[in-house]
Amino acid sequence: CGIVGIVGRESVADGLVEALRRLEYRGYDSAGIATLERGRLERRRAEGKLSNLQTKLSQAPLSGAIGIGHTRWATHGRPNETNAHPHATERLAVVHNGIIENFRELKEELQGSGARFESDTDTEVVARLVDHLMAQGLGAVEAVAAALPRLRGAFALGFLFAGEEDFLIGARHGAPLAIGFGRGETYLGSDALALAPFTDEITYLEEGDWAILTREGAAIRDIDGRSVKRPRQRIATQAFLVDKGNHRHFMAKEIHEQPEVVGRTLAHYVDMAGGRIALPGPLPFEFAKLSRLSITACGTAFYAGLVAKYWFETIARLPVEIDVASETRYREPPLESGGLTLVISQSGETADTLASLRYAKAQGQHTLSVVNVPTSTIARESSAVMPTLAGPEIGVASTKAFSCQLTVLLCLAIAAGRARGTIDAARERALVDALITVPGLMAESVTMEPQVETLAREIAKARDVLYLGRGTSYPMALEGALKLKEISYIHAEGYAAGELKHGPIALIDESVPVIVIAPHDAIFEKTVSNMQEVAARGGKIILVGDARGAAAAGLDTLATLTMPDVDPVVAPIVYAVPVQLIAYHTAVFMGKDVDQPRNLAKSVTVE
Ligand code: G6P
Repeated sequence: CGIVGIVGRESVADGLVEALRRLEYRGYDSAGIATLERGRLERRRAEGKLSNLQTKLSQAPLSGAIGIGHTRWATHGRPNETNAHPHATERLAVVHNGIIENFRELKEELQGSGARFESDTDTEVVARLVDHLMAQGLGAVEAVAAALPRLRGAFALGFLFAGEEDFLIGARHGAPLAIGFGRGETYLGSDALALAPFTDEITYLEEGDWAILTREGAAIRDIDGRSVKRPRQRIATQAFLVDKGNHRHFMAKEIHEQPEVVGRTLAHYVDMAGGRIALPGPLPFEFAKLSRLSITACGTAFYAGLVAKYWFETIARLPVEIDVASETRYREPPLESGGLTLVISQSGETADTLASLRYAKAQGQHTLSVVNVPTSTIARESSAVMPTLAGPEIGVASTKAFSCQLTVLLCLAIAAGRARGTIDAARERALVDALITVPGLMAESVTMEPQVETLAREIAKARDVLYLGRGTSYPMALEGALKLKEISYIHAEGYAAGELKHGPIALIDESVPVIVIAPHDAIFEKTVSNMQEVAARGGKIILVGDARGAAAAGLDTLATLTMPDVDPVVAPIVYAVPVQLIAYHTAVFMGKDVDQPRNLAKSVTVE
């Protein structure tokens, strides 16, 4: 879901659609724009992709020089045209990201005073509320000022008013919003990427801020209505290089980019000459003093955290407690004051992860975040930030951000091990040497692509797929299953290989491919036993392992993806490549929309 707005000099419809296209990667299921046509509000909205909206615009063009636009990912109400944004009354139109939690109570109140609602959305409540206040005589700005404190939840809003050719209003409360400055034009966007076609001069609104955008600039007020100045930043143009290059999909490009971005991330964390980890910033806590580490995240970032649990526990002997953020935030876990919570997030905006971070802070914990967007809310609110240098990730299913998260997390675990005296300098050097081999090994793994393409045709036939792994390969099995279901819609489950016999073994027959992730590590033999159990029941095994392992296993497999020899510690980072390629090629073969899978959003700013 994305918000854009332009106070422009000439017709803004094309610009609004172009900006929305930049936000497509976030996932959406309907889109719309509103402009002022000789002072009157006009809207065009459409279900589905932006091309549907463009068709409507070509049939009934809009020519106004001020407008707002939106891509919607349905929360309240189906993704049809009526529920698409902008929502409008005669006086104003509004676009909205996030959720208005008290919309029912506001709706009843407004209905009580005669308002009639057209849609099932929480957003329309904002439009009707501001309209109601204006009907009582308030001006546009005063009405928004009076309405904002009445809204509960995490949201960002953009307003356009009938008869007001010269300004838009944007408000940020828990979901990000940026203002862009051009020549005689000013822009509103839910992220800087949306504004890239127009300007690289950006101001991020802070929590609770709202702003009046005119052609000359923006007047920003804070949550208490005081006029405030927020810094303007120049966003590196390189951050905007978001074309697919020679690839068919962003996801393919992002898988292939991994050797480079993991290398870049490593260079930021490793003192290559010294053979040691050199974290990019000071830490406001001491690893040596921690008795426990709490990790929380969502989706793929959560699986990165699950891998990190093994690393922190084995390398730094630091006990780790980990949960998905949607549970952490309401579970009320007892967190020791002065302890450490680590959050992991590509976007830095995921609502549940942010709420868990705030919970940890309220418990008196230090907060450390591993994020890919340095200007994000999570980055700003953490006591320390360890960036992943993956660059903008456009494919909805996370790939390169994941491998960069793993890279940073392993560096942190090694730094923790040194600080806690659980590894010596020689062990640290050996770990760093292993890390340095990763980009090369990832590049080597990418060359298996033709083989994966052939294999994908087999997987595409399946109704269910099982992924198995032990140790750090267990979270990789979970991630493999997640990737496959996200983009191919084939049902897939990841299991700890040793758990197989406690349930999932009942599913195994000739029709269920079982993908076993098994580098030749200390527990490889155990995984082989589990593979035997699958084979004995006619299951089709696909082994993702190295040549030594394949030879040692001596099993009939449907296919073996032979990986290069890898130090087991860094195996999850390297094995991310085949795991991602399997999902990617299966989905492509099945003709699915790989970059924008149905129902999924890139940045989930709702609960
Ligand atoms: C969404 C995305 C996933 C991502 C998750 C967490 O569900 O589709 O790919 O892993 O959010 O996002 P974050 O930005 O916090 O890493």
